[in-house]
Amino acid sequence: MKPGSVTAQAKMIARPAGPLRGHVRAPGDKSISHRALILGALANGVTEIDGLLEGDDALRTAGAMRAFGAAVDRLGPGRWRITGRGGLTEPAEVIDCGNAGTGARLILGAAAGFDLAATLTGDASLRGRPMARVLEPLGQMGARWIGRAGGHLPLSLRGGDLKAVTWRLVQPSAQVKSAVLLAGLNAAGETRVIEPVPTRDHTERLLWVFGARVDVEDTAEGRVIALGGGQALSGARLTVPGDPSSAAFPLVAALIVPGSEVTMEGVLLNPLRGGLFETLREMGADLAVSRPRQEGGETVGDVTARHSVLRGVTVPPARAASMIDEYPILAVAAAFARGPTVMRGIGELRVKESDRIAAMGAALAACGVEAREEDEGLVVMGASGANHPVAGGEVRTHGDHRVAMSGLVLGLGAGGPVVVDEAAMITTSFPGFAELMAALGADLGVA
Ligand code: S3P
Repeated sequence: MKPGSVTAQAKMIARPAGPLRGHVRAPGDKSISHRALILGALANGVTEIDGLLEGDDALRTAGAMRAFGAAVDRLGPGRWRITGRGGLTEPAEVIDCGNAGTGARLILGAAAGFDLAATLTGDASLRGRPMARVLEPLGQMGARWIGRAGGHLPLSLRGGDLKAVTWRLVQPSAQVKSAVLLAGLNAAGETRVIEPVPTRDHTERLLWVFGARVDVEDTAEGRVIALGGGQALSGARLTVPGDPSSAAFPLVAALIVPGSEVTMEGVLLNPLRGGLFETLREMGADLAVSRPRQEGGETVGDVTARHSVLRGVTVPPARAASMIDEYPILAVAAAFARGPTVMRGIGELRVKESDRIAAMGAALAACGVEAREEDEGLVVMGASGANHPVAGGEVRTHGDHRVAMSGLVLGLGAGGPVVVDEAAMITTSFPGFAELMAALGADLGVA
């Protein structure tokens, strides 16, 4: 396949490839892109964003902010201007969040602070995902809602007249934390979120960038984030760093394909997102960071991966929050490692875009890799690459972008081709994935 000649399509095939080589930029961070759009709409005045992720998930949030009354303009590739009106107004249409759990949960939190009614829906995957985890704290703050059993989308929310709450997270979730903080911006009193396990802190950092006062303190109970209600935000300028969760795919591909060396430029190095890189290093991965620098309140750097002989490890469950989206691609790296890789304390993976424990267990089994599913874990029996224990096969993605990309990366290092049943949804988080991989030398095509 000629480099640059393939886009993600319905059904794709990855064939065992020669070395992958090159320097490329990861797409903008998905978590930060959602937050930048929402905070821009909540702020007074103009926000200019560079490097915004232009994947379906973030574009849905951009459309939602327009429906809630902000002016949202695309100035060029990745360059967006949001003119906020200092708050949200009632949308005249149903808000379709597509595949985006982050978009839906953060929008519910932001909208709850205003005197409006809004109805949210999403695709089949999002309509099956739990929303009660955000509706419960928002309900305690005074928001009302009516939705399907279990609080599944579609649902209608009535916001306004909120009072602050102290909310202790039941499961480590940056989405729940962020929904409560965004609602707290327009609640009477001081809202506090207690995190027994710290999760990604992009909302806190961006609130600072938009001029809010947010206090973060580590206590015996966990990390406490406190935010006073009634704060006005001002428009800001920011650059979205490259997404480490997306950079993970070409980097792991380089680790498993002999002779490879790939550099991903401008990758977010926030330690609360760094669990995969830490784990890969423990597995023996040759990963090097160069040119660390500050961008938009975050540290970024260039990350280079070279083909490495990997060994299986036990991932500490306490690390899960810092690599929650990276277990599918870690499972691929584990398939090429010597000895078992044990991943536990990852029950949350069952309620992501798909049940990722089941989907990855089945994907590996379909490609001849022994994997054992547990209620809240996955154990991958790695083997050495000498006799190519990883065969090819057919991977069912269950409509999950990260399962699709993991399957295609697996195919680049395997003994035979891997076909994934659906790849179009890769654009939710990584538009241009197939082109970028092809530019590095990967053999990807339409099956
Ligand atoms: C995200 C938080 C994580 C992650 C998701 C993005 C965020 O979800 O899986 O892809 O941007 O806050 P949880 O907070 O539900 O763990």
